[in-house]
Amino acid sequence: LPIRATAYSDELVKTAKNIASPGRGILAIDESNATCGKRLASIGLDNTEVNRQAYRQLLLTTPGLGEYISGAILFEETLYQSTTDGKKFVDCLRDENIVPGIKVDKGLVPLPGSNNESWCQGLDGLASRSAEYYKQGARFAKWRTVVSIPCGPSALAVKEAAWGLARYAAISQDNGLVPIVEPEILLDGDHPIERTLEVAEKVWSEVFFYLAQNNVIFEGILLKPSMVTPGAEHKEKASPETIAKHTLTMLRRRVPPAVPGIMFLSGGQSEVEATLNLNAMNQSPNPWHVSFSYARALQNTVLKTWQGRPENVEAAQKSLLVRAKANSLAQLGRYSA
Ligand code: 13P
Repeated sequence: LPIRATAYSDELVKTAKNIASPGRGILAIDESNATCGKRLASIGLDNTEVNRQAYRQLLLTTPGLGEYISGAILFEETLYQSTTDGKKFVDCLRDENIVPGIKVDKGLVPLPGSNNESWCQGLDGLASRSAEYYKQGARFAKWRTVVSIPCGPSALAVKEAAWGLARYAAISQDNGLVPIVEPEILLDGDHPIERTLEVAEKVWSEVFFYLAQNNVIFEGILLKPSMVTPGAEHKEKASPETIAKHTLTMLRRRVPPAVPGIMFLSGGQSEVEATLNLNAMNQSPNPWHVSFSYARALQNTVLKTWQGRPENVEAAQKSLLVRAKANSLAQLGRYSA
């Protein structure tokens, strides 16, 4: 019963289900070249194509990764790269039954008329770029826009974020890519968890309103929400149980069960925090697959272990598997620290 027949309706639903499969989640390594440069600088490496390729090769050739990871989000440069032995990264992923994905937004710029907020660019030419990415092997996409609580959020910023996500989602589906819908609500601020809950409910209600208006196939999308936590500068930290309770309350009120998967971002949480919070959310059955799409919470130890040295690659890959397995157990609600 497709809400809208596209050439890819059935495939989209299959792809989304495959990514949202038990005990697996997404490895996000789609840092733009500028952001990847910051990660490399943290271990004293220059931001060159050679270093970015070496780092992504380490991650994407980790033996056994597919047991815990169902999808990997890549930056455009990585989608077209190969290992130093000449094997396409896309083929490395396929051999592990990991679906290749691609970041398609063009980043954030100031939103005129708002309270120092931003909007996300990238709709121009998106259909033709998406068709090219599909040909290259990508089967899902990511578009990250942000909402800031200390800056408001203004009604204008929320509406713009929601509309942009909905347009992107419809365009992705027309071109065979499952859209990950990501309105990141930034952790910054000293507000209590109740305020985050209120903003998250507002944001997701608008996102689903515009997704519906754009006839997006809900069975063929994935969400990438922020967990509902107190602001990073709030005086008290919340327990995983409190975070799970608020986050699941928000999701149950706002997300239809037709959506197959909720793949959280880590947003600056520590590796263990991100795992514990996910585990807490899987202590009772949910209408959707509740899993992870972490970047920093999967990569921090890997980077520190690697240090850019070939002799450390194996140890760094092992540390990736440790985090991936921990989050896999958390997806199943079976992690203990
Ligand atoms: P973090 O898990 O580091 O927040 O990154 C996830 C991501 O891809 C943000 O778009």
